[in-house]
Amino acid sequence: MILSEVFIGSDRISQRVKELASEISASYTASVSVSGTPLVIGVLSGAFVFTADLIRAMTIRCDVDFMAVDSYGSAMESCGTLKFRLFPKSDLRGRDIIIAEDILDTGHTLNGICEYLREHGVNSIKAAVLLDKPERRQVPFEADFVGFTIPDKFVVGYGLDYDERYRNLPDIHCLEDERDINRV
Ligand code: PRP
Repeated sequence: MILSEVFIGSDRISQRVKELASEISASYTASVSVSGTPLVIGVLSGAFVFTADLIRAMTIRCDVDFMAVDSYGSAMESCGTLKFRLFPKSDLRGRDIIIAEDILDTGHTLNGICEYLREHGVNSIKAAVLLDKPERRQVPFEADFVGFTIPDKFVVGYGLDYDERYRNLPDIHCLEDERDINRV
């Protein structure tokens, strides 16, 4: 596997994350159903960079927590079997949750997380995803806030990995099979 040229550059990401943060802030300011301070839950590991940038660009007060979920399958695709590795420390009952996810792919992870949150009595859930790959969906899921809608490419950087590598890259790149590139 080799790394492509920059697919989404850090400047574009930064600009879009600020826009998402403004949209989110405005929607919570306007919402009558939100009772208290919303709780942003970052989904580890992939969303740690996105979460850090998003919360710092939000203009409303928010609390921050994390959870970690493994979705089993191959290194490049989840198969829908989830294992929760870390649960939020916060009391979730009655809270208004903003899930911060790096990527919405098959939809299994966000579906599972929403189920967990509902079981724990949250008041509302909204999902903010940096990247959405609608072509790949196996279970229905629509995020409330989407940074970029992208085609079915395997992407790394800005928190996203391949086998734990590339998370620290500031830009998002595609990971391509050398055999496909040689065929072009
Ligand atoms: C990735 C990503 C999402 C999930 C989305 O996590 O961070 O959590 O896959 O895929 P889905 O829509 O097909 O469920 P991954 O399991 O690769 O772990 P990571 O966050 O630790 O990289």
